[in-house]
Amino acid sequence: MKNLRNYEIINKKVLFRADLNVPVLDEVITDSSRILAIKSSIKNLILNKNKIFIIAHFRRPKGEVSEKYSLKFILPSLREILRIEKIHFLENLQKDKINKTINDMQYGEVCLIENIRFQKTEEKIDLNFAKNISSFFDVYVNDAFSASHRNHTSITGFAKYIPAVAGNHLIQEIKNIDSFLENAKTPNMAIVGGSKISTKIKLFNNLIKRFNCIVIGGAMANTFLLSNNIDIGKSLVEKDLVDEAQNIQKKAKQYNCKLILPTDVVCGKNLDDKKPFEFNINEIASNFMILDLGKSTTQVINQEIINSKMVLWNGPVGAFEYTPYDKATTEIALNIKENAKKLNIDILAGGGDTVSSIKNANAEGGFKYISNAGGAFLEWLEGNQSPGVIALKENNLI
Ligand code: 3PG
Ligand code: MG
Repeated sequence: MKNLRNYEIINKKVLFRADLNVPVLDEVITDSSRILAIKSSIKNLILNKNKIFIIAHFRRPKGEVSEKYSLKFILPSLREILRIEKIHFLENLQKDKINKTINDMQYGEVCLIENIRFQKTEEKIDLNFAKNISSFFDVYVNDAFSASHRNHTSITGFAKYIPAVAGNHLIQEIKNIDSFLENAKTPNMAIVGGSKISTKIKLFNNLIKRFNCIVIGGAMANTFLLSNNIDIGKSLVEKDLVDEAQNIQKKAKQYNCKLILPTDVVCGKNLDDKKPFEFNINEIASNFMILDLGKSTTQVINQEIINSKMVLWNGPVGAFEYTPYDKATTEIALNIKENAKKLNIDILAGGGDTVSSIKNANAEGGFKYISNAGGAFLEWLEGNQSPGVIALKENNLI
């Protein structure tokens, strides 16, 4: 796979795939790491006097143009974080518009293309479109590891027609995740949280074989508890996955992987309930829902972390967006911050919510690596090569 360190791109028209699908709350970007991620590659391409066209998506407009999903809002942050004074903006991919922008631009300048998911030809892979668009450019760079699990035109299509190169951040993500998995130290553990087992079945099946211990937190733990005949009150649950939760537990036994499920929990009447109650797992009142791990479960997890040499974390263990149900997640993050370096524990974290809870706790310093990928991180851990990475590897036009 070619990358910006072993393949020089100079004075070219570059189509650059970034992942600018940043978290936004009340019109404010709450985490800019995906913008920061492309800085190194963009700098390199600017220094080498290329005309750089950033192509990216925002949310899921499903092929419809909609002001709500326009990428224009991100221009000021792009300018500030990438330290670029002027960024051109391309409203759509009509041929005359592309040509005009290319002509207007100086070498060493950057243009942002409007949300690529406004195009019907993006999510339903369209090779004709890919061929047409790539004919305006000399080279394609993919620096969007976090979107590379999508087989979409801007991720896999262009690499079929023009030389394709991996960006610095994409390489960094793969290197760090792979080296973590390959250099397995024991004892090790994985913390898996989040709301749905359905999205993580394959992950569990893979992790059980690799890890000595898996903590199950977040709403998905409720389905496991229910499968063990525990009354979980009004808690969120995936009833149709109770059998699957049992299978996962059986498989863990087979592979000698210890599963840690909650033994005590923090509950509320709903997500906005500011008066949390702690319950032992066998005593949950029927009008309450589980929203966080209890003290003693959190303590057990924190001790297990301290006894480990390697920890993987994906998914908050409670409803962390709703204070005070962020407590266990924050305590785990702070325990990592305090002890990981001191005790030489390698800790890898990934997933959008996981990263923002680590940042909320101001605990980034404890981690060996934090991936800014969500779905792509999970799929990589499941052992799937991303379609975007395969497309780069298969490109033979250089
Ligand atoms: C992400 O945020 O995980 C990536 O940008 C991919 O977005 P998607 O899940 O909407 O395809
Ligand atoms: Mg996603």
